[in-house]
Amino acid sequence: MSKALFVVSECAPLVKTGGLADVAGALPAALAAEGIETRVLLPGYRVVMGQIGKTQTVATYDDLFGGKAKLRACKVAGLDLLILDAPHLYDRDGAIYGDATGRDWPDNAERFAALCKVGADIAAGGVKDWTPDIVHGHDWQAGLTPEYMRSAGCTTPFVFTVHNIAFHGNTTAEKLGTLGLDPARFTAENFEFWGQISALKAGLVGAAKITTVSQTYAEELLTPEFGIGMDGVLRARQSDLSGIVNGIDLDIWNPATDPNIKTYKTATGKAANKKALRKTFGLGTADGPLCVLVSRLTEQKGIDLLLEALPALLDRGGQLALLGSGDPKLEVALLEAADAHANLSVKIGYDEALSHRMMAGGDAILVPSRFEPCGLTQLYGLRYGTLPLVALTGGLADTVINASPAALARGVATGVQFFPINAHALANAFARLCGLYADKPLWKSMQRNAMKQPVGWETSATAYAHLYQDLIGAHS
Ligand code: ADP
Ligand code: GLC
Repeated sequence: MSKALFVVSECAPLVKTGGLADVAGALPAALAAEGIETRVLLPGYRVVMGQIGKTQTVATYDDLFGGKAKLRACKVAGLDLLILDAPHLYDRDGAIYGDATGRDWPDNAERFAALCKVGADIAAGGVKDWTPDIVHGHDWQAGLTPEYMRSAGCTTPFVFTVHNIAFHGNTTAEKLGTLGLDPARFTAENFEFWGQISALKAGLVGAAKITTVSQTYAEELLTPEFGIGMDGVLRARQSDLSGIVNGIDLDIWNPATDPNIKTYKTATGKAANKKALRKTFGLGTADGPLCVLVSRLTEQKGIDLLLEALPALLDRGGQLALLGSGDPKLEVALLEAADAHANLSVKIGYDEALSHRMMAGGDAILVPSRFEPCGLTQLYGLRYGTLPLVALTGGLADTVINASPAALARGVATGVQFFPINAHALANAFARLCGLYADKPLWKSMQRNAMKQPVGWETSATAYAHLYQDLIGAHS
């Protein structure tokens, strides 16, 4: 078995703010089936330390950016974890990336540099009896790993996955010394980015291979519109960049066994869940589709477009139940809109169990994102027979088959896509959705198509395994 080390800042079910955690939590089991043994290096946030129980200390650090630290090995939920227990960095009130008011922690550079440094130490043989053949870092929080591997003289191949290019992990050049980075590499060819240290760029430059979470996003990333300043760096590395679409955990997201819902094997079983969901959200009955949306509330997710286009759904007898949290301005706007419309109900918060009930009870799942590297909720929707209405971008373009006349004629459609990504096109998409929903035999056939889609990890885990094996082969 080959050995892979994940360096990652969140991992379900222990700690999650978004899809990154789902990927880190589900991919290791899928890789195991491919002959890859994965250990996940994760910060020992307070919320994580509270869940790990008995551990074995496998390394100690006298001074890791200002305090003592231990590396603790343990197993939780089938995951082989290496938890970086560094109280001065991770044991605090508030969220994992920032304080309770939503402001980033001022020492985030050190907090995630520490994770990378320990990742490099493990790669260089710092843990007895377990040295990885491949190191796989995820997003900017893991970006400095290849810099520290380089300083340690470690040539183990490093794979870097971009889950979202919007976050660069930039920090001031004054921290070069504090972070123990090589000043000679603070150049435009390496990790300097407009006068700052960019952890993201360090990952992009230092990786043997770069992946992102869908093929369309891999192409989009090369354009100024989607590359958000990194498109030039990525174009220079184009031959090493590929897209591997995310899967979902088919055990956790299984309508036939999901403990949160009234289980079902065919879409007819959704009716009881729909009734229960309407009750939960205080919605009455209606003729149009019951749409659901579960999301972080940020600019990325197109919530403002949704608010503008919503009359096109509500005026046709449609409904929307929305669960999300994030930008306070969007939260207020949504709550105000819900006050004004009987068929719009909004819950602000984060609720994993409710998100399952929404997938089971909804007719359609909305993902009107401006950009979406992969997106997971449309995949849950497919599996639960909840047809996705999505923007034509990133992973949303790759995982949904638009109900075009051609796709309908071939009987393969699974959802509705809209383009360009603006409120007008979204409003038109609502009209199309309501038209499809009104044609019951057609809607049912689309639900059947949706529920048959291969949304698990198998194919993508094979792709990662091949990528690893090629690099391991070339390295040894
Ligand atoms: P992103 O990672 O950009 O947030 P994804 O669609 O990849 O987008 O993943 C989001 C994940 O977080 C999904 O598992 C989704 O169900 C979950 N999620 C987002 N917001 C909430 C919420 N308010 N309550 C429960 N789950 C949520
Ligand atoms: C990011 C992206 C999302 C993707 C997730 C997991 O948060 O915004 O599209 O599904 O990472 O890769």
